[in-house]
Amino acid sequence: MAKKSIKQTTPILRYLDPSQDLEERVQDLLGRLTLDEKFDLCSGRDSWYTKEIPRLGIKSFAMTDGPHGVAPHSSGGKECTYFPTGICRAATWNPDLSKDFGVAMAQEVRDVGYHMILGPGVNIHRTPLGGRNFEYQTEDPHLNAKLIVPAVRGIQSQRIAACVKHYACNNQEMWRTWVDSIVGERAMHEIYLPAFEAAVNEGDAWSLMGAYNRVNGSFACESVKLLSTLLKGEWNFHGFVVSDWGALNFIDNPENSVNVGLSLEMPTANKYNKKLLQDMLTEGKFSESALNNNVERLLRVMFLVGLFDDPTTLPKGSRNTREHQAVARQIAEEGVVLLKNDHNLLPLETSLLKNVAVLGPNADRKLGPAGGSSEVRPPYEVTPLAGIKAKCGSKIKVSDVASGADAAILVVGLNHDAGLDAEGADRKTMDLPQGQDDLILKTVAANPKTIVVLVSGNPVNMEEWIDKVPAVVEMWYAGMEGGNALANVLFGDVNPSGKLPVTFPKKLFDSPAHASVTTYPGIDDEDLGPVVRYDEDIFVGYRHFDAKGIEPRFPFGHGLSYTTFEYKNLEITPEKPGRDDNISISVEVTNTDERAGAEVVQLYIGDPEASVPRPPKELKGFAKITLPPNTQQKIVFVITTQDLSFFNVEVGKWKAEPGKFNVFVGSSSRDIRLQGTFEYSP
Ligand code: GLC
Repeated sequence: MAKKSIKQTTPILRYLDPSQDLEERVQDLLGRLTLDEKFDLCSGRDSWYTKEIPRLGIKSFAMTDGPHGVAPHSSGGKECTYFPTGICRAATWNPDLSKDFGVAMAQEVRDVGYHMILGPGVNIHRTPLGGRNFEYQTEDPHLNAKLIVPAVRGIQSQRIAACVKHYACNNQEMWRTWVDSIVGERAMHEIYLPAFEAAVNEGDAWSLMGAYNRVNGSFACESVKLLSTLLKGEWNFHGFVVSDWGALNFIDNPENSVNVGLSLEMPTANKYNKKLLQDMLTEGKFSESALNNNVERLLRVMFLVGLFDDPTTLPKGSRNTREHQAVARQIAEEGVVLLKNDHNLLPLETSLLKNVAVLGPNADRKLGPAGGSSEVRPPYEVTPLAGIKAKCGSKIKVSDVASGADAAILVVGLNHDAGLDAEGADRKTMDLPQGQDDLILKTVAANPKTIVVLVSGNPVNMEEWIDKVPAVVEMWYAGMEGGNALANVLFGDVNPSGKLPVTFPKKLFDSPAHASVTTYPGIDDEDLGPVVRYDEDIFVGYRHFDAKGIEPRFPFGHGLSYTTFEYKNLEITPEKPGRDDNISISVEVTNTDERAGAEVVQLYIGDPEASVPRPPKELKGFAKITLPPNTQQKIVFVITTQDLSFFNVEVGKWKAEPGKFNVFVGSSSRDIRLQGTFEYSP
């Protein structure tokens, strides 16, 4: 019988074998790298890529901006879906929508052939002037965490890495690359870190971006506390940290960054250049095991995104699809906040309209390619004017003359350029750009049925005209479908459900960060450099306004609907919860109107007997429910001892103290419909 020829097949290398355990593949590949190759993997090849290592088949790991869509500058000029920005997505208070957003954005990243998205951003809105607040989500740590986790999970479900940024305390653009944020321990744990911690512990984020700024005297990218003690230690992070672009330039001793676990310097080698790394290693400034730990973290994510796997086995990419555009529109529709609606001027009834005026500097402004590194170049962008024109069709005449129209829609706000909601600079005031206040007053004088539409990523000063205007809508930077979403809300096809994720102050100096120049923007000390002191500590946003009894223009959690909701039957069980008891808080919400609508039911908890200063109430739960007309739903919140706790700096742990706790359930932080108490008795 002919001898069978035994085909000689070289055994597949372990790290190339997708059937092998992830950690086996990581360690196998790490063990094959030369020292030089490890050094090569510590910095970028150029702005968006790591270096290839052909000898081992290591392809370039490619990353792209930004937090609300693939940016053209980091994807070879690609046109991509322009999703609503972070604050608009936060105003939806819809975690499921954040997940859908993550999936859709990751599919676009995959389609352009990249592996990581540089976002979302979760820095807390500390000052209403923050230049990049539009990219971030909120002033509240609970809402911040609840929205970032599903977004990260959505992104990574497509085997694309999320890169949650900017870790940490990057809350202003003024002196952003070297300002020292002096933040108390409680504020760190209770306000600024929760979203990052949740992204890692619940979202399993594969990457974080180290911020430019300093935190309590150390640059974020060399901070023992942030990168080692917390991230790698307490949070058991197994992904990798990438520097913000050029963030290591200011660091005098880059061995600090190696030792705390900053894996990758972008965009290219400056402090992590081969010679410097070799010298530091030779001089014992860091060990090869520290280097290995950093490199293996990047390798791990390379495997997680499928860099070594057959591309046909990976989730498919897609870009500029109708599905993605539908996600963008849904976020915009649910993110629009109806701030004021006197005499139910809205929704506009098309059957009663013959002509509508649409005017104002932002009526026809396209905003995708604005804002800085978060820019997006969409295949189209529906402006408010275009959306309203499409809605009116041939039935209703659209002009730009307010006088004599059946209604006047005046679209104002910020232009998303430098100093007006863009990276690199904060605003100087909360005021609208020059002339807009007068334009609003003139328009409402010419037509009492004027609806002011704000396009911004931050609160604006409305005091000159708010009492003269019957209806105000905040649409944020609502993405490529923003105009259609706005029209759907204004004309009643969508019942608005957006809620403010930030407080809208009446004036800037009511805001806690603006107590003095020391607290914002800080003092540029000739020895220490710029230093900004977060002296308000945990009293950020509504926590401050409530504690000081300051009336905001519009409170955190505020947003009107075209329908009305009734809250009743608050039940709290047990009345005397012990240490390990879950506390169930239920309420019945009824849509008492003829129109279907969505409501965000908010649960706040207060600890009036605390031994330390605590805010009168803190958000500890929310539920977005959609109710058909005249229907009711029972909502049950379950809270734990952790929800009752504050961070006890003396012992470095969370602590819930015995005593009475207040329960507030409502439609905003100031529209509390039901109140109760329980006695925590550990
Ligand atoms: C920028 C931004 C960061 C961005 C990076 C790449 O300076 O701070 O958010 O992802 O550089 O453009």
